[in-house]
Amino acid sequence: MKILRCRSYAKLNLHLQVVGARPDGYHELQTLFQTIELHDTLTLRLRPEGTGRVSIVVEGGGVPADERNLAARAGRAYLNRWSPQWDLHIDLEKRIPVGGGLGGGSSNAATVLWALQEQLGSPASPEDLEAVARELGADVPFFLYGGTAWATGRGDVIKPLGDLDEQEVWLITPPVEVPTAEVFGRLGELTVQPAPSSIVRLVQGGAGGRVDRLEGWNDLEPIALQHYPVLRDVRTALLAVGAAPVRLSGSGATLFAFFRSPMSVEALSGRLPVGCRVARSRTLSRASFLAGRLIDD
Ligand code: C5P
Repeated sequence: MKILRCRSYAKLNLHLQVVGARPDGYHELQTLFQTIELHDTLTLRLRPEGTGRVSIVVEGGGVPADERNLAARAGRAYLNRWSPQWDLHIDLEKRIPVGGGLGGGSSNAATVLWALQEQLGSPASPEDLEAVARELGADVPFFLYGGTAWATGRGDVIKPLGDLDEQEVWLITPPVEVPTAEVFGRLGELTVQPAPSSIVRLVQGGAGGRVDRLEGWNDLEPIALQHYPVLRDVRTALLAVGAAPVRLSGSGATLFAFFRSPMSVEALSGRLPVGCRVARSRTLSRASFLAGRLIDD
């Protein structure tokens, strides 16, 4: 039996523009992805002389442990195509908030694809692996790269960028579920502005810098804030204690914030609406992401 323990990191959308509707019901995006230190932990047990069966046990976090689970679906997709002579069992410890816009499920799926490649002698080409990632979900391909990346298409066409400085970032998750499809469905007429110049420079190969100095916005944020007042309250409270910038990740419900001066979890929690989860994390360079995926112990 082969056993592998992995960190499955979360992401932020430092910038997210919706630039068009697509015939397949999705939207055309331009988004700047960034991995962060917050992670789930996956333990993979591979048994030889199997038939490509996949089972999963999930600890914490309200994630289904059946065929809807994206980590299990990734395992099945991989083994069916490339290594049906193995069975896989996954133990998933959830820490990334579910429905937060932090890409937890997508990250879990990509981590399984990467781990199976590592363990089974890379039978899939990088192109085929990315195609399977894309079929599993629009956010999955990014997690094969990590670090900072520019994404277009459904958010699944990835251009890895140079690293930004690693920096502390705060994550505030209000007790509300924001359905992604609903937020996209409420988008009005699109007025497409050019991306902010600091991001254009980065995409064109410019040097990195501080994450909190990048200009950016999220086109989904006004819609989510309009329909979920608690998100507005969180944003107002964060700005009042000096956070800048404050932004929604994906379609929410997690908001992320940067502080210039020291802040404690207790002090911040006391200023926020009841039931918010507060976590301190860090942005993660590509090198840290790649080095951190495998847990050696
Ligand atoms: O990729 P995911 O399954 O999380 O997307 C959930 C929903 O969000 C999609 O069914 C679609 O309605 C919307 N979406 C979109 N355009 C994207 C990504 C998601 O319209 N690029």
